[in-house]
Amino acid sequence: MRIDILTLFPDMFRGPFSTGILQRATQNKLVCINIHNIRDYTHDKHHTADDYPYGGGAGMVLKPEPIFETVETIKKEGAEALPIILLTPQGRLFSQAVAQELSRYSQLILICGHYEGVDERVRQHLVTDEISIGDYVLSGGELAAMVVADAVVRLLPGVLGSAASPLDDSHTSGLLEYPQYTRPAEFRGWSVPEVLLSGNHAQIAKWRHEQAILRTLKRRPELLDKASLSSGERRLVDNLSTHPAAKESP
Ligand code: 6GU
Repeated sequence: MRIDILTLFPDMFRGPFSTGILQRATQNKLVCINIHNIRDYTHDKHHTADDYPYGGGAGMVLKPEPIFETVETIKKEGAEALPIILLTPQGRLFSQAVAQELSRYSQLILICGHYEGVDERVRQHLVTDEISIGDYVLSGGELAAMVVADAVVRLLPGVLGSAASPLDDSHTSGLLEYPQYTRPAEFRGWSVPEVLLSGNHAQIAKWRHEQAILRTLKRRPELLDKASLSSGERRLVDNLSTHPAAKESP
């Protein structure tokens, strides 16, 4: 996959993209992330990327010309139809399902909005999708672009060590993840649940699945409406919902 990111603050990306899983994915050529400074596509002597809003009001608005020019330069290198995504609090809400959808493309363009906004003609005539990462306001789209890139890249084949691991993640099944433990088996008097030491893989899988359901019921009950559960699991949820004491552990 190729990801092109348009920003006024390219330096913000250096840390997150040069550590951990994103760095390894880049080194292994599973993804190529290009950061483009919108200011490099301006032509006046002051490299003006933003200007005052028509009609007045506070803040600055990103100008359309350098954004169109950056995207057109990127598209010339590739050609095929690809998503051009504006990161903005007004976009559709990002989720694991959206990450999965985006992971199927061979190229993405992410545009980081800034200041008070982006000229509306960018939205109307260039962008094909708008994404928000939650109902709060960030000072720019950069952190949101990093969130989207990270969530998408870790889904690409070969990026995580084991092929199965993204399937076990919280939210992939519609459930939160079960509790995890590592050594020591006892720490400050707190023991690891016996079943995990039993070596009985069927029992362990059953325990983990129940714990995932319990945790989801306790913390994010609204997720259970959408999760795909067997009729037995539905009964478990219904029982636990009507006998709330059983919900204590997770
Ligand atoms: Cl994508 N941008 C900004 N500026 N704020 C946000 C956001 C994006 N998503 C949530 N808040």
